Amino acid sequence: MQIHSPIPELRAALRNCGRVVFVPTMGNLHAGHIALMTQARAHGDTVVTSLFVNRLQFGPNEDFDKYPRTFAADCEKLQAAGVDVLFAPGENDLYPEPQEYLVDPPAIQNQLEGEFRPGHFRGVATVVLKLFNIVQPQAAIFGKKDYQQLMVLRNMTRQLALPIEIVGGETVRADDGLALSSRNGYLSPSERAEAPRLYRVLNAIREAVQGGDRDFAKLERDAAVELDRNGWKTDYVAVRQQADLQVPGAAEQALVVLAASRLGQPRLIDNIEIQPLQNAY
Ligand code: PAF
Repeated sequence: MQIHSPIPELRAALRNCGRVVFVPTMGNLHAGHIALMTQARAHGDTVVTSLFVNRLQFGPNEDFDKYPRTFAADCEKLQAAGVDVLFAPGENDLYPEPQEYLVDPPAIQNQLEGEFRPGHFRGVATVVLKLFNIVQPQAAIFGKKDYQQLMVLRNMTRQLALPIEIVGGETVRADDGLALSSRNGYLSPSERAEAPRLYRVLNAIREAVQGGDRDFAKLERDAAVELDRNGWKTDYVAVRQQADLQVPGAAEQALVVLAASRLGQPRLIDNIEIQPLQNAY
């Protein structure tokens, strides 16, 4: 696996590489990331990943400084996963001067995750557009675990006419259902044992909706109460339309239920798509 930090060096390395598939990450890689790398292989000739903890997408009280940085272990995993090129820029490679030109996503950036993490999606969209300009991939893969991020980036790519296919990667879960996340490492053993409840309440909502329950407000409220009764501090549980993450119209069938809740220090997010009944079996 080649590793490059300076942008000109990476650009030179990517000349004549055929179809480039790009998987951006912030490192601290787990099996969910590796599944995206494996998926990437099927979408092109050269798999490029980036590893950069992007200061722009963290709020002032978030865990930027504490975010786990595990470069050597990440390199080993990427090598084993057959990644061809790793772009690992330093702060000065990517932000040699203050980043004053920013990508400002539309109103959805202030809902759900955005309501609790102001400016987060502006930071994500800005760094991803910059990474796209540097790597110039033909396809890019983002995990569905960050469902709203995937939607924001898909819409940015379409509206700015970037010649890049955006591919969603399925969430990888532990045997007990907990979605893999770099932030799971912050959980104490007792919190880790409690954590799969998030997935269970989302599943219960999916089953209720597939059984015909359309009282989304009550389902959301009941789920938040169940979490909070078990020691969580819930930011939101929300049933939304898959297409635009808006509150579902009366007949809308393609839904997703999303949640964010804090268990001790770590804030966990998860979601499950709810497919129309005729496709569900
Ligand atoms: O999902 C992530 O890890 C980050 O938000 C991303 C897309 C790499 C941008 O920093």
